[in-house]
Amino acid sequence: MSSFYITTPIYYANTLPHLGHLYTTIVADCVQRQMKQRGFDTYFLTGTDEHGVNIERAARAKGRTPKEHVDHIAGALEQMFTEFHLDRSHGGFDIFMRTTEPFHYEGVSHLWREAAKGKTPKGNDPIYKGHYEGWFCAACAAFKTEDEYARPTTEGQPPLCLIHEISLDRISEESYFFRLSDYGDALLEQYESNPGFVRPDGRRNEVISFVKSGLQDLSISRMKSSVSWGIPVPDDPDHTMFVWFDALSNYITAIGYGNTERQRVVGFERFWPGIHLIGKDILRQHAIYWPAFLMAAGVELPKMVFAHGLLLDPQNRKMSKTIGNTVELPLLREHFPIDAVRYFCLREVVFGQDGKIGYETLIDRANSDLASGLGNLVSRTVSMIQKYCGGLVPNSTLPEEKYLLAKRNGVDADPQALASALEFSRDQFLAHFEEFAFSRALEQVWQIIARVDKMLSDAKPWILAKDEEQREVLQAVLYRAAESIRWLSVMLYPVMPEASRAIAAQFGSNTDIATVDPVTLQWGGLSAGTTIAEAQALFPRIDKAKTMEAINRTRMDAAAQSGESVAEAVSVDATPAPKEESNLIDIADFAKVELRVGQVLTAERIPKADKLLRFTVDIGEPEPRQILAGIAQYYSPEEMIGRKVVVVANLPPRKLRGFESQGMICAASYGEEGRPVIATFTEDVPNGARLK
Ligand code: MSP
Repeated sequence: MSSFYITTPIYYANTLPHLGHLYTTIVADCVQRQMKQRGFDTYFLTGTDEHGVNIERAARAKGRTPKEHVDHIAGALEQMFTEFHLDRSHGGFDIFMRTTEPFHYEGVSHLWREAAKGKTPKGNDPIYKGHYEGWFCAACAAFKTEDEYARPTTEGQPPLCLIHEISLDRISEESYFFRLSDYGDALLEQYESNPGFVRPDGRRNEVISFVKSGLQDLSISRMKSSVSWGIPVPDDPDHTMFVWFDALSNYITAIGYGNTERQRVVGFERFWPGIHLIGKDILRQHAIYWPAFLMAAGVELPKMVFAHGLLLDPQNRKMSKTIGNTVELPLLREHFPIDAVRYFCLREVVFGQDGKIGYETLIDRANSDLASGLGNLVSRTVSMIQKYCGGLVPNSTLPEEKYLLAKRNGVDADPQALASALEFSRDQFLAHFEEFAFSRALEQVWQIIARVDKMLSDAKPWILAKDEEQREVLQAVLYRAAESIRWLSVMLYPVMPEASRAIAAQFGSNTDIATVDPVTLQWGGLSAGTTIAEAQALFPRIDKAKTMEAINRTRMDAAAQSGESVAEAVSVDATPAPKEESNLIDIADFAKVELRVGQVLTAERIPKADKLLRFTVDIGEPEPRQILAGIAQYYSPEEMIGRKVVVVANLPPRKLRGFESQGMICAASYGEEGRPVIATFTEDVPNGARLK
């Protein structure tokens, strides 16, 4: 049996997942399910990336140790994937990989040692010790060159990462380097001789031109004294491994590279090389660093790296927790069938390209393609078989003269034509699937749906049923619809496992469609006389107005319930306090809080303080106040200038990073990260006005 190994990126264990993370995992799950149907011995990996300075900082902000923090996030992430039935018990991933697993430490140390022992294609040592001097972005876990950061507007401040808009860290320390500069030619040779190694083509070209522009050696360790939350460098515990060396290696350590435990349970030789599905944001690490590390250690390269596009919000911004524009998984789970979410991920966005999405597009897609399309075809076919054929699959044979007669009456009941159309669509479907063109593959399926729908509408079974002479035509038409639906259920299984199984069960099938190879489908598999189950709504219509109202209400409640002060908000979970008697305050107590309308006059970052912004705010007093707020990760200074805000004006001043803060700016805070949203006014209001 041939094997097939597919991976998603392992997600950073610093925040909870959103649809962007679910997206790659759903696609990988769908691919592995189809490969299983086609008889492959499959292995599917997803998981969490748990080391590095960013995680260390996220943990500190939550008052947790790094291990407590990653346990918490990895647990929540795995739980979330399970709620979307992506776990093993539902036929999904085989391993939820965690880079804090001891077997991973063992495997990655082995990879390091093997790489260190080898020689580069130019005969040098692949790993050497040197000194690193430069800028590092904790959120990207990457060192930044000049063209990758923005110079600060104020003298003496660190530059900003162009992707995350956060201050970079200055690094000047001893470091191990990977001699990436020696691998340019070998990598180019790999891209040339294996055109399918990096896909799609646009991404491949991007990688080739980057490599051609010259590669620099890569710093692959940090001093333990500056980043302690990492895997120690073998034989030099003063250093921890660069998080990407550690993270990328998970793809092989999970299946047994360099450790006996996983080797026994899974088997490296059995599954490697695999294919990696990733977002285009991490292409360079997968298409350049990873193959170079493997070349150094003498390990076979992956079969393919496929980089998909990013999910964007309606303003074309990447969906991310930092911006707060994510499609949230608990809301998806509450308001949509899992299969509708899966279908949407594969159909709505062309895999490989960016795609704008939101709750409303999801509702529209589910209603048009699933409720009105597939769901309606299935339910009308089932109920007509119930009504006109006593709930049993009817006989399909139609004497030729009757078929010709029917044709003259506009009823296309030619089994040959329908069977050939189905075979053609099935082959196209599979070919597109193999190319990762899921959206086009699904278009093929919906063409079948349209064709069968038309056949039924043209034949008008409710009229045929009135004429005993037409009995055979009626039966033949309904048989053809039912048999087509059987094909659809097999083809659609990887995309919508539960709905497809429900369809197959409705048509009396007792074979598990998870193991039916669509290639083997043959016309006529559905036996006459099979009992059809009662019609059930597979995809009930989603009431758009009501659902959007409920979604928006939840989002606003989440924001409102987390009324933490901005300065502390970033580090606190947004759990609403229980409404106990003792929580109630007297109006006189509330009146003690002096809340005033303010307007931000100036705003700037504070050197070496990632989270803080320093403002001067006019609250109607002779002199503006200086106020500090911990919102720098969410608001840029520029977007704050001129804003009306709510200021708590009677707090005693306090010092933060050497600056006196004379008040507090109010904000809602929500989500796992405690994302702040500044309170403001939509109508004109003078500075200094009191809030009561
Ligand atoms: N930990 C690294 C990956 C290491 S792999 C050895 C990492 N993690 S991540 O959590 O930041 O994001 C990983 C992946 O999440 C992206 O490449 C992509 O697959 C998915 N997505 C996160 N946000 C996304 C969108 N807005 N849109 C689509 N996918 C995105 O990078």
